Amino acid sequence: MSAIIHAANDASVDDAALQLKEGKLVAFPTETVYGLGADALSDQAVASIYAMKERPSFNPLIVHVRDQYLAESLGEFSLEAKKLAAHFWPGPLTLVVKRSKNCRASRLVSAGLDTIALRMPRHPIAQALLERFGGPIAAPSANPSGKLSPTRAEHVAAHLPELGYILDGGACEIGIESTVLAVDGDRVRLLRPGSITREMVEEALDQWIEVGGESIQAPGMLASHYAPSRPVRLQAAAAGANEALLAFGNHAPQGAGITLNLSPKGDLEEAATNLFAMLHALDDPRYQAIAVMPIPEEGVGVALNDRLRRAAHP
Ligand code: TXA
Ligand code: MG
Repeated sequence: MSAIIHAANDASVDDAALQLKEGKLVAFPTETVYGLGADALSDQAVASIYAMKERPSFNPLIVHVRDQYLAESLGEFSLEAKKLAAHFWPGPLTLVVKRSKNCRASRLVSAGLDTIALRMPRHPIAQALLERFGGPIAAPSANPSGKLSPTRAEHVAAHLPELGYILDGGACEIGIESTVLAVDGDRVRLLRPGSITREMVEEALDQWIEVGGESIQAPGMLASHYAPSRPVRLQAAAAGANEALLAFGNHAPQGAGITLNLSPKGDLEEAATNLFAMLHALDDPRYQAIAVMPIPEEGVGVALNDRLRRAAHP
């Protein structure tokens, strides 16, 4: 573990912004998960994100912005896109829109598409870094491609040991990645569920939205993604021998091997906050598999089950 963790403060945020200006990578906290950031205007810097994550070159990246003005210089905002930004930004929502005519972001962030994914985070450290750096920051989740997303600085350090700079802002509040919406004119599609639910989006827009899409090129839309190293078994009533149990609610079976409970009181938001940290903790060679109790398919539960299905996919 050689990555260097720096407690986030004015001095380390300044340092991190300098690293970004030099084309280097910096991991930083957001309200969802930790991001692996690079100068979004630099081909070389963006290319090094793909290299460090071993991310397939066809999987585009989210570009983080500090304000709406910068967002609209990079992407084309329809009325619907503006409404969504006004309603949910800063916050855990990513908007995939057409690249603007004079978009200065590296083409690599779009992975060959004519669209760009934009997000304005609300985490104060992410905001401070965007402010000091000045420009847009490309940042996927700070994990090797296909692995669990990091919700603490220690997860980043453990899985990306070559990374030189990690800003530590403690545990992420939401714990699962942002909701991703594709907005093409007045057509809105949910590409990745998150803590901003489909119902919340429909209420903000006062219109129904589509779910999924005919040809989602890559996202965390790949069937197998967010995967721990050992098998995950869903809809478990209890853990078998040699299994660790990821429980939910107050009916968790007692006794057997190790159990972590996503939320003993059955709160889905609390469960989302804990999901990746608990999967990281149970992903231990002492167990052959991770058994997961059922989680209701409602509210943030939709996003939780989405991540769990991908974690369980062989
Ligand atoms: O919460 C988050 O979104 C975190 C934090 C760091 O902001 N970031 C994150 O990035 O989860 P990443 O790269 O792990 O996931 C980005 C998702 C992927 O599923 C990617 O395929 C999709 O957004 N995406 C990015 N650009 C896209 C585009 N132009 N069209 C369609 N999907 C896109
Ligand atoms: Mg990711």
